[in-house]
Amino acid sequence: MEIRLGNINDIDNWMVLVDKVKKNFPGLETKEAMDEHKKTVLSFINKESAICAIIDNKIVGALLFSKENNMLCFLAVDAEYRRQHIAEKMVNNMFELLDSAKDVVVTTYRAGVPEGVPARAFYKRIGFVEGKLTEEFGSPVQEFVFKR
Ligand SMILES: CC(C)(COP(=O)(O)OP(=O)(O)OC[C@H]1O[C@@H](n2cnc3c(N)ncnc32)[C@H](O)[C@@H]1OP(=O)(O)O)[C@@H](O)C(=O)NCCC(=O)NCCS
Repeated sequence: MEIRLGNINDIDNWMVLVDKVKKNFPGLETKEAMDEHKKTVLSFINKESAICAIIDNKIVGALLFSKENNMLCFLAVDAEYRRQHIAEKMVNNMFELLDSAKDVVVTTYRAGVPEGVPARAFYKRIGFVEGKLTEEFGSPVQEFVFKR
């Protein structure tokens, strides 16, 4: 497996993965939303803020992050490749590129939502702690914070 920054040539492969996991992400339901998300991915690629995991030329993991906000903005692993520490390796890669003096924030599902179980377990396992309850795209979410 290779973990590296995404580049423009990865975009089609990247969107194949997003298409597979989009049911996990409120706000990606329509074609228009997916087109918009593709533009978002390209802008993160341009800012060197898009990390992917590749196995056999296939993108099996994707992570977007913001250096300005020290924030993890998007994280997904192909269902067929989960529980192989791929997300953990991508997050560690991101940590190397972020300001090590600042907390890192991510928003995810609130407790009690079945779709949120893997993500919440994952973030806790790698050292994030529960933070504020907020909303995103009209859905209730919770911040998780990696404290420095
Ligand atoms: C959350 C997600 C990215 C985790 O990816 P992953 O590559 O399977 O995670 P890792 O293998 O790196 O997990 C590391 C540790 O986190 C914990 N963990 C991960 N998934 C878990 C699950 N489903 N249940 C319980 N613990 C889990 C475990 O402790 C795991 O270590 P272990 O397998 O040795 O026990 C993946 O499940 C996913 O893409 N889910 C759908 C999209 C999503 O929810 N994204 C986050 C939205 S903010």
